[in-house]
Order: sequence, then structure tokens, then C-alpha cells
Amino acid sequence: MTPHIAAEMGDFAKTVLMPGDPKRSAYIAEHFLEAPKLVNNLRGVQGYTGYYKDVPVSVMASGMGIPSISIYAHELYTFFGVENIIRVGTAGALRADMPLGTVVAGMAACTDSNVMSQLGLDAVFAPTADFMLLANAVSKSRELGMNMSVGSLYSTDLFYDDLNRWKKMADLGVLAIEMEAAGLYLTAAQTGQKALAICSISDNMITGVAMDGKERESAFRDMMIIALETAKAMDKLPVA
Ligand code: HPA
Repeated sequence: MTPHIAAEMGDFAKTVLMPGDPKRSAYIAEHFLEAPKLVNNLRGVQGYTGYYKDVPVSVMASGMGIPSISIYAHELYTFFGVENIIRVGTAGALRADMPLGTVVAGMAACTDSNVMSQLGLDAVFAPTADFMLLANAVSKSRELGMNMSVGSLYSTDLFYDDLNRWKKMADLGVLAIEMEAAGLYLTAAQTGQKALAICSISDNMITGVAMDGKERESAFRDMMIIALETAKAMDKLPVA
């Protein structure tokens, strides 16, 4: 047991899928995993381990923002033998021509968070996805005929930002705004493990359009299948 996870070593699979919302975690366990077993429920952050096509896969929520995902990712990587965390979240598009429901994989994650300056580097660390996770996600999405964009995410600490600083990120070609990827990638780097953030576009910052419930559901499904197939592909890899 750790300060934030009440489970035993071996309760989590090698790969954990991580939505932001604890209710989403329960929904994923129920609808996408076979024989899901509740392995954590501290603070209502439900963690489940089940099977996807005979491969053990876990799902646990991250909560919102870089501090929250960093805590859960650190404990999973450090104390529970987890090797891969795949964030499955939502993001706001930073391009007018990006339709709602687009699935975006974060090759890199820019951030306005102060965590990077707390590393004590006389430089700026560039948080990136694990290449094998990303390469598997790209090839699985193509095999399945799903259209997934790949590029940079902007992990902001401010959901409500009066200065609209995302516009400058958009000018630099960053694809979408969310609140966790940079923290997850940094934590993976600090612990020597692997991470990837895949998001479905729930709203567009430029046009102001946002998804209705039904659209959310089908975009969510594509993202989940890509994440689960990636987990399955990673399970076959020899231990690093
Ligand atoms: N900002 C931050 N995170 C988000 C957004 C947003 O507009 N949309 C979905 N996640």
C-alpha cells in the first residue's frame, strides 16, 4: 500500500490505461475488459485489472492535472511493477480544421507547468511519449482504419486561462490542449518507464464547437480500441 493506492504488488497489469475521470475508469472496466477485478478504491479512484483478448490490462483514473497524474503514475511505476501507462483522455483542438472526435496521440507534451523548473536543470526538459508505445498505437490505428493524428499536446495548469495562451501554442503547431500528458511523460522519464497519451477531441478552442454525448461515446471507443490494442502489442515485447 502507498499513500494513494491501496493494492498489493501484482494487482496491476504491466499496462495501465488511465482516464482522468474515476467513473470513466469503472465504465472502461465494465465495457472493455473481461473479468475486471477492483484492485484499488482509495479516495474513490477505482483501479481495475481484467483481460483484453487474454492479455492482462489495468485501468485506473488519474484525476485532473499534472500533480494528480504524477502522483498516481509515480506510485504505479515505482511500487506496483507497472511498465506502461496509456492516458486515455479528452482534449481541446488547437486547429480549426480538426473535427470533433479526432483521436490525437501526443508525441511530445509542452507545458506551462512549473514542475519542469523544479527539476533543477539549467535547461528545459522535453517530455515525450515512449517510442514503442507510440509506434504500436500508430500501426494499430492504421490496421484498424482509424484516423489518428500524431503531434504535440499542450498540458496546461489553467483550464480557465484569461490570457488565451494556447493561441501561441497553436501558432507553433501544437495540436491540442489538455492537462496531464507532460506530467505523465516526465514521471515515466524519472522512473525509467514508458508512457503515451491518446486523447479524443471533445471541443475546439478556435471554433468553439463541443461534442454532444453521442459523439463523445464513439470517439471514445476508437481511442479505447487503439489503447487496448497497443497494450496487447506491448505485452508481447520481451522485458527491456
Ligand atoms: N482545456 C484543457 N483541457 C481540456 C480542454 C481544454 O479546453 N478540453 C479538454 N480537455
